[in-house]
Amino acid sequence: MNDWTFQTANADDWTRIAQLLRDNDLPLDGAEMHIGDFLLVYDGQTLAGCAALERYGASALLRSVATDTRFRGRGLGQALVRRILDIAQGEGIRTVILLTTTADKFFPRFGFKVIAREAAPEAVKVSAEFQGACPTSAITMQLSL
Ligand SMILES: CC(C)(COP(=O)(O)OP(=O)(O)OC[C@H]1O[C@@H](n2cnc3c(N)ncnc32)[C@H](O)[C@@H]1OP(=O)(O)O)[C@@H](O)C(=O)NCCC(=O)NCCS
Repeated sequence: MNDWTFQTANADDWTRIAQLLRDNDLPLDGAEMHIGDFLLVYDGQTLAGCAALERYGASALLRSVATDTRFRGRGLGQALVRRILDIAQGEGIRTVILLTTTADKFFPRFGFKVIAREAAPEAVKVSAEFQGACPTSAITMQLSL
């Protein structure tokens, strides 16, 4: 039995989020100013995983998807992504974009497809990840909700 609690982040969570992102070599740029866009999962007092959905009107950027290595392979990463996509759909978001250098084989199971970086909605391109935090070699993926 696991003891996972999903919750929206607040400022008090930032130190733990930043550590989890660093541990996974994911960019911190622009993340703290979007702290309220993070969905977290705690196992007791331990931050086991996170995912963030930066909203840009009818489009959104899914970023900072990470689970603590101690909790990998138990469905946690998928549970986080499914929950955050459900939230996006509930809010009327139509298009979710992500950039990844490490997990392009993980996201197709949710319906994400590879697209050209230029083809992403203009609104999402203002994000820190598009503005340089993610290398140009990153793969761009899109999901239509
Ligand atoms: C990607 C990540 C969030 C998956 O977390 P997790 O808790 O292990 O995921 P789950 O247990 O729900 O899913 C495991 C499944 O995902 C697959 N998977 C995990 N990481 C993967 C990756 N980087 N690429 C492709 N598939 C991956 C596993 O092979 C497994 O597949 P299966 O269901 O066919 O057996 C985690 O590996 C991670 O934090 N990676 C480092 C950060 C990262 O690359 N994030 C994505 C940035 S956009």
